[in-house]
Amino acid sequence: MNSDNPALHPESLPQHIAIIMDGNGRWAKKRSLNRIRGHREGTESVRDIVRACREIGIKVLTLYAFSTENWNRPPQEVAALMKLLKTFLKSESPEMMENGICLNAIGDIERFPDDVLDVLHEVTETTRKNQGMILNLALSYGGRHEIVRAAQHIARDVEDGRLQPERITEELFSSYLYTHGMPDPDLLIRTSGEMRISNFLLWQIAYTEISVTETLWPEFRREELILILRDYQKRERRFGLTGDQIRKGSRRP
Ligand code: IPE
Ligand code: IPE
Ligand code: MG
Repeated sequence: MNSDNPALHPESLPQHIAIIMDGNGRWAKKRSLNRIRGHREGTESVRDIVRACREIGIKVLTLYAFSTENWNRPPQEVAALMKLLKTFLKSESPEMMENGICLNAIGDIERFPDDVLDVLHEVTETTRKNQGMILNLALSYGGRHEIVRAAQHIARDVEDGRLQPERITEELFSSYLYTHGMPDPDLLIRTSGEMRISNFLLWQIAYTEISVTETLWPEFRREELILILRDYQKRERRFGLTGDQIRKGSRRP
C-alpha cells in the first residue's frame, strides 16, 4: 500500500501523527524471549512506520521511544535500549538523508550517556535541513517536565525584562515547548491496548484524535496504520463547536 491508495483523502490527512510505541516486552514474553528481543523487533516497526508516513505525506511524526519514567527500569534494560538507539540512529541515517527526513530529539536528552548523545547530535545535524518530514524522537521525554521547563524559561525571560507577563498567551507558551513551530498532533496512536497517556505531549494533545489498538508495537506495520488513517478520515473534529456549525464550514476556534 502507498500514497496512491484511493481510500485515503489527501486533503484530510493528519499533518502530525504521534505514537506511543508500547508492548515490546509483552511481545517478547508471549514468545518466551528476553524483553530486549522485543525492543529489537520494535525497531523494525519504527523503520516500516517512518517509511510509510513519509510515503503517505505526513509532515510530522512523533515517536515516544523512552520516557522520563523509563529511567527507573532495570539497569540492564536501560543499557540495552541505549545501545539499540545508537545502532538504530547509525543505521538509519543514510535512509533519512535519501528520504528527506529531519531528525529532531525531544526530551531531557542531556541525561543520555555521551556516546549516545554524540550519535544523536551527529544525525540531528546531518539531517537538519531535510524538508520531507520531521521525525521527532521523544527520548527521556515527559510531558510534565516539558511544561515545567517551558515555565522556567518563561520566568527567566520575564525576570530579564525580555517578556511582559501580559504577553503570555497559549501561542507564546507553545513556542517554549520542544515542538515549537510544529502543528499539534492531529492523531495519537497507542499500541498494546493501554488506555492511558503515560505523560506524553500533555499540552499538545488538547484536541488530538486518539486511536488505541490491541496490536503490540513489534507487530504494528503500515497496513494497520492505513486502517487507522481511514478511520481517522471518517471522524468529525468539532473543536467544541456543534456538528451543524462544522458542516456549514465554520472554522475551528
Ligand atoms: C515500549 O514497550 C518500549 C518502551 C517503553 C521503551 P514496553 O517495554 O513498555 O513493553 P511492555 O509494555 O512491557 O509490553
Ligand atoms: C510509555 O510506555 C512510554 C513509551 C512508549 C516510551 P510505558 O510502558 O512506559 O507506559 P506505562 O508504564 O505502561 O504507562
Ligand atoms: Mg509498556
